[in-house]
Amino acid sequence: MHPSPSSPGLISSLFLAAVLLSGGALGGDPFVYYDWKVSLMSASPLGVKQQVIGINGQFPGPILNVTTNWNVVVNVVNHLDEPFLVTWNGLQHRKNSWQDGVLGTNCPIPSGWNWTYQFQVKDQIGSFFYFPSTHFQKAVGGYGGIIINNRDVIPVPFGTPDGDITIIISDWYTKDYKELREALDNGKGIGVPNGVLFNGLGPYRYNDSNVPDGITYATTNVEPGKTYRFRVHNAGISTCLNFRIQNHNMLLVETEGSYTVQQNYTNMDIHVGQSYSFLVTMDQNASSDYYMVASARFVDPTVRDKVTGVAILHYYNSQGPASGPLPVGPDEGDSYASMNQARSIRWNVSAGAARPNPQGSFRYGDITVTDVYVLVNRPAELINGKLRTTLNGISYVAPETPLKLAQQFNVAGVYKLDFPNRIMNRPAKVDTSLINGTYRGFMEIVFQNNDTTVQSYHLDGYAFFVVGMDFGIWTENSRGTYNKWDGVARCTTQVYPGAWTAILVSLDNVGIWNLRAQNLDTWYLGQEVYVSVVNPEDTNKTELPLPDNAIFCGLLTSLQNEQSHKFRFSRATSVTEGCRMISFGLLTIWLGFLLLC
Ligand SMILES: *[C@@H]1O[C@H](CO)[C@@H](O)[C@H](O)[C@H]1NC(C)=O
Ligand SMILES: *[C@@H]1O[C@H](CO)[C@@H](O)[C@H](O)[C@H]1NC(C)=O
Ligand SMILES: *[C@@H]1O[C@H](CO)[C@@H](O)[C@H](O)[C@H]1NC(C)=O
Ligand SMILES: *[C@@H]1O[C@H](CO)[C@@H](O)[C@H](O)[C@H]1NC(C)=O
Ligand SMILES: *[C@@H]1O[C@H](CO)[C@@H](O)[C@H](O)[C@H]1NC(C)=O
Ligand SMILES: *[C@@H]1O[C@H](CO)[C@@H](O)[C@H](O)[C@H]1NC(C)=O
Ligand SMILES: *[C@@H]1O[C@H](CO)[C@@H](O)[C@H](O)[C@H]1NC(C)=O
Ligand SMILES: *[C@@H]1O[C@H](CO)[C@@H](O)[C@H](O)[C@H]1NC(C)=O
Ligand SMILES: *[C@@H]1O[C@H](CO)[C@@H](O)[C@H](O)[C@H]1NC(C)=O
Repeated sequence: MHPSPSSPGLISSLFLAAVLLSGGALGGDPFVYYDWKVSLMSASPLGVKQQVIGINGQFPGPILNVTTNWNVVVNVVNHLDEPFLVTWNGLQHRKNSWQDGVLGTNCPIPSGWNWTYQFQVKDQIGSFFYFPSTHFQKAVGGYGGIIINNRDVIPVPFGTPDGDITIIISDWYTKDYKELREALDNGKGIGVPNGVLFNGLGPYRYNDSNVPDGITYATTNVEPGKTYRFRVHNAGISTCLNFRIQNHNMLLVETEGSYTVQQNYTNMDIHVGQSYSFLVTMDQNASSDYYMVASARFVDPTVRDKVTGVAILHYYNSQGPASGPLPVGPDEGDSYASMNQARSIRWNVSAGAARPNPQGSFRYGDITVTDVYVLVNRPAELINGKLRTTLNGISYVAPETPLKLAQQFNVAGVYKLDFPNRIMNRPAKVDTSLINGTYRGFMEIVFQNNDTTVQSYHLDGYAFFVVGMDFGIWTENSRGTYNKWDGVARCTTQVYPGAWTAILVSLDNVGIWNLRAQNLDTWYLGQEVYVSVVNPEDTNKTELPLPDNAIFCGLLTSLQNEQSHKFRFSRATSVTEGCRMISFGLLTIWLGFLLLC
């Protein structure tokens, strides 16, 4: 399942050569190669047969299991009937937003094409996950876990666990994702989820009236007395999920690449797009199996039983099935308790992470803020007759030409760098307006949630410090409450309804980076923006060059080079594709001619 990093083969050597030529590889760090065939497959997680997105026939997809500083090469072959892009939630892609896999940085991989991502997991450790970033595809899978192990020379602030278990929880709809997408396009909501999955599987039948017969559920096999690292990711659409294991404490140790102060929890609210590592010791007797539960938070109590995922923790010497009621979670709708729990998650300032120096040696609390953005989101509203979501009154529209390519080739008019740092007193509009970040600046972003549902926000390319959250309207005085010492650095934070969350981020990574709502429906309707970070100095040390195999689209379609796009996909070869290939061939000859003269 996990390809060896040491058997590159011919194609791989070619890659290596290409990378060395382009200055992308940093001496001696190993390469790891993955080939991913992305295709629809049938599954019936909730007893209803439907199409899900599998990777190499797996749903969820394979785990990307790598070590700090490895170079990762993933050849993605798109067998879907529409374009596809995968994004790597939480990977920082230092100097390399070319590999981020969102529409602002990459042309989507057309149906029937392959594209090879190549990036280094520089100076990172921890638990993340990947997912499809366009077309609402994430609603039906295409996601999987990412593990970045520490290098052997770097100590970890806990003993080596006896096992490493990835758990992906997600709310789930039995409707096809194209129907969900259409509902949003037509100004309708997507309604309440039909259930919650554990690693792509439906609930254990803990109660005959809540769960139909015949559902395949997830089982995690363990041995008594051992301690496992559970990496839990919420890869769902829009539901915050409360995760808990019957009779077992969960010792929180890591979130999204930061080691936390180690504390026991009996349950944890995991918001859309968030990842946590817990150490769980199998310290119960094996009189029975135990439930693992992921139940919807902040939903109507009448639907909660339905929107609950249940999996089984099975001691190998277990005497019988799990039984009795599910372990109870927190009071429904109690966002105060949820916020308090979030505030209790803190950075272990004395632990080293990817490097041996302590996390806390980066004293974020002492750094002067250079730019402040207060980003207000509102419930979806009609703009030009279409239902859209906004940040500061602007609903993002993705141009046909990726922002990053437009910047590289100086194509004017694709985007503007005029995103307002406060909500303006003007009607909401759709636009392609970016935040003009200051390279090496220190940015404070306050998310003010004016919607009635909890949202989570994510920034690509960075980890940010979560320094404060509270109910009410943020004011300058709110800064007095900031945690300037051990706020945890992560990539996705929640913002409760009628509340704010403040983050600080050091803009040291050149590129164009996506700042988005992780809730898929909110994101789909326009709640995102990009932060452009440009080094004003004329150097190519702070950003890697455009990759040789870049796909071109939009206003740059004419640069498409057939050589780098020999796709091996045969099923859908059609007359138009044939013509396209011929025209690419002619274009290459023509470009070659230009170069020779
Ligand atoms: C990840 O790979 C390492 C070797 O690099 C291996 O020891 C470990 O068991 C793997 N973890 C998982 C979860 O596959
Ligand atoms: C597609 O995959 C082939 C190998 O199967 C590779 O040689 C080629 O570079 C890939 N194309 C792109 C654009 O990544
Ligand atoms: C923080 O990390 C240090 C260094 O690894 C470790 O010794 C300590 O137990 C950790 N503290 C807590 C509270 O988790
Ligand atoms: C099963 O769930 C129903 C509806 O929530 C509830 O009324 C009933 O008491 C539950 N049965 C058991 C055995 O827990
Ligand atoms: C967490 O709970 C376990 C029992 O489940 C206990 O052994 C351990 O000491 C607790 N750790 C902390 C830091 O509270
Ligand atoms: C095992 O644990 C359960 C629940 O904590 C308890 O009811 C039962 O008596 C225990 N059985 C043994 C054999 O210790
Ligand atoms: C963006 O910010 C840089 C400074 O970081 C400034 O030089 C430039 O003029 C700004 N661009 C626009 C369009 O405001
Ligand atoms: C949203 O903003 C309006 C106008 O400022 C305010 O009346 C309302 O209470 C806010 N709602 C939330 C949930 O913050
Ligand atoms: C960028 O790198 C190339 C070689 O890779 C070099 O020839 C060129 O001078 C560099 N440009 C700058 C501005 O440093």
